[in-house]
Amino acid sequence: MAVDLLLGLQWGDEGKGKIVDVLTKNYDIIARFQGGPNAGHTLEFDGIKHVLHTIPSGIFHKNAVNIVGNGVVIDPVIFKKELDNLEQFDLDIQAKLLISRKAHLILPTHRLLDAASEAAKGKAKIGSTLKGIGPTYMDKTGRNGIRIGDLELPDWEEKYRSLANKHEAIIKFYDVDVQYDLEELEKEFFDAIERLKQLTFIDSEEYIFRAQKEGRSILAEGAQGSLLDIDFGTYPFVTSSNTTAAGACTGLGVAPNSIGEVLGIFKAYTTRVGSGPFPTELFDEDGETLGRVGNEFGATTGRKRRCGWLDLVALKYAVQINGVTQLMMMKADVLSGFETLKVCTAYKYRGELIDHLPYSIESDVLEPVYTEMPGWKEDLTGIDSEAEFPEALSKYIAFLEKELDVPVKIVSVGPDRTQTIMR
Ligand code: GDP
Ligand code: IMO
Ligand code: MG
Repeated sequence: MAVDLLLGLQWGDEGKGKIVDVLTKNYDIIARFQGGPNAGHTLEFDGIKHVLHTIPSGIFHKNAVNIVGNGVVIDPVIFKKELDNLEQFDLDIQAKLLISRKAHLILPTHRLLDAASEAAKGKAKIGSTLKGIGPTYMDKTGRNGIRIGDLELPDWEEKYRSLANKHEAIIKFYDVDVQYDLEELEKEFFDAIERLKQLTFIDSEEYIFRAQKEGRSILAEGAQGSLLDIDFGTYPFVTSSNTTAAGACTGLGVAPNSIGEVLGIFKAYTTRVGSGPFPTELFDEDGETLGRVGNEFGATTGRKRRCGWLDLVALKYAVQINGVTQLMMMKADVLSGFETLKVCTAYKYRGELIDHLPYSIESDVLEPVYTEMPGWKEDLTGIDSEAEFPEALSKYIAFLEKELDVPVKIVSVGPDRTQTIMR
């Protein structure tokens, strides 16, 4: 049985949580493969809004098992809060939520290191969510990390102490003002570890391999977006994991030849939170309108998201890198009311017209070139079939399909589970 992937194609927050929740009824297993609590995945149904950071977005469905894969980094403190929030919903967490022994732990000092590193960068800061993601992946690749499986061994607290001591020395080296009370942070951390230890730990690669053999269907849930990928994103303004399709292979232990559909998800416009280049960013009233109507505030940090028109050049790049087989367009409702819509179809790069993503997309060397399309006035939030699409929306979608050469299979017209049009 093939493993399907669902990935964000922009700078994150495309609406992955919503769509994973919608699609979970078709799958037996939902598995997160990278990132950590820098993610904020929002789900809305029955009038309630849920934000998940580490727990996969299939958790509210009784039919599916949810796996936190080896490629994920886990902050026990945030994880415990997520579990506490779920307590009111009669979910069988013990049986339905499985954690890979090979997933790495985010320590309190990883978070402090993140803060120190950002403070030391000054104006050049990444705009990190400050969840300790970068330092934890550094310790993973530096072969110093502590993994979930270590919690089952007797000597893990010694390992913890030695790593935390090293982190404190590095924080001093940064020579910036980061205030902290490690004793208090550790109390919270070790309390949360006790809760984490009550969960079911598995060798997830083995579990997934067996599930595939038994014919169980699996959907891998990405976090962040392709333009935040450590290799292919807008480096250094990226996150510290492979957010693209290959990340699902290393983050779950799935072989490349067993990947099935690659579901690429994008907003009908573009947003970005944190620093870094953003060619189609708007600083005018249109940008304000997108942010206001789209309620564009980060689900993890509450920061205002930067907004701009759809960037087809960047989207084409993401489709290519991931091998996307189906597209899902989110937040179509937010575009209602614009007289004219703009789509970036080329870049003017160092004076030359190009249609691919060059090494640098900083504004001093690159300018977006737009194709204009008529907008629509109709409110889309109440519609429930494609037959009700305004003509201009159908044309917008047809244009994207032609440019990207991949079908748009889902159009989302509101945050709720039900506001989802399948095509
Ligand atoms: P994720 O990180 O990719 O899961 O996305 P986020 O949850 O961070 O951000 C997406 C935001 O858009 C959330 O607040 C969703 O509730 C909301 N959302 C998702 N789809 C739609 C849609 O079609 N229309 C509108 N208006 N909001 C949506
Ligand atoms: P989801 O899964 C949007 C951004 C941060 C920052 C950069 C690095 O909800 O789409 P990090 O904390 O990883 O060191 O931050 O990446 N970022 C996200 N932006 N959505 C996310 O996740 C993000 N996770 C990280 O804002 O610019
Ligand atoms: Mg998000």
